[in-house]
Amino acid sequence: MAKLQDKIAIITGAASGLGKGIAELFAEEGATVVVADIEDTAGKQLAETIGGMFVHVDVTNPASVEAMIQSAVERYGRIDILLNNAGIDGDQATTANSTLENWRRVMSINMDGVYYGMKYVLPVMVSQGGGVILNTASTVGLNAMGALPAYSASKAGVIHLSKSVAIEYATQNIRVNAICPSVVETPLLKHFIENTPDPEGARQGFASLNPMPGMVTVDAVARAALFLASDDSSFITAVALPIDGGYTAR
Ligand SMILES: NC(=O)c1ccc[n+]([C@@H]2O[C@H](COP(=O)([O-])OP(=O)(O)OC[C@H]3O[C@@H](n4cnc5c(N)ncnc54)[C@H](O)[C@@H]3O)[C@@H](O)[C@H]2O)c1
Repeated sequence: MAKLQDKIAIITGAASGLGKGIAELFAEEGATVVVADIEDTAGKQLAETIGGMFVHVDVTNPASVEAMIQSAVERYGRIDILLNNAGIDGDQATTANSTLENWRRVMSINMDGVYYGMKYVLPVMVSQGGGVILNTASTVGLNAMGALPAYSASKAGVIHLSKSVAIEYATQNIRVNAICPSVVETPLLKHFIENTPDPEGARQGFASLNPMPGMVTVDAVARAALFLASDDSSFITAVALPIDGGYTAR
């Protein structure tokens, strides 16, 4: 039995990496996926492959996020699941050496974008009688990491914002949870590793970061997202779920 049969799911940042893997699994599980991304070519290609709809969105722009929600409602009449997943790592620098531009750029994608997504989808979910929101945070939002001030703060912010909204809407059949992967091989991680002073050392460090061997797979994250998006987690809200092979237990 498919776990998301006939559900309408919007996924931001769905053209690549985790968003793409989650979109593919949600579609396999019966959902119609609205692939939302700033990258049109890869986004359209994925939407064609999985049989969903592509919407161009820039999550830093509230009007663009609102239009994304409206397009999905116009096309499908409802939104059962919203995954706010678009994100960037930004530059690596200690706080005094980091730039104001990097702070604003990372915050505007990773943090403002999640707020806009929830702000505009919540009235739709309230009026249809419920829904599920997932936000992609990170273990970096649970355990601080140096030389990545904006990313760390944005991911901690996403976790707390998710919990606040979960409490606000708990009586309205809307669940809100955050997923917190540690390290997953995606273009974002490649960008991060290539920008460290010792990329090979960083790669080896990441490969042995988790108590469980190896990095987290896209599939493992997608299956955790599926659990939280489906009725299997019907009484779970306000959770920040690590997908980290035990990393945050240390
Ligand atoms: N890869 C990891 O190790 C890891 C670990 C923890 C959390 N995460 C988080 O997972 C999420 C997905 O990251 P990923 O690793 O799949 O990276 P990725 O670079 O493969 O994918 C990010 C996607 O977001 C899109 N995007 C970027 N800016 C956007 C904007 N302004 N509007 C709309 N879309 C935009 C990109 O086009 C891309 O398709 C991010 O929030 C990231 O912080 C990743």
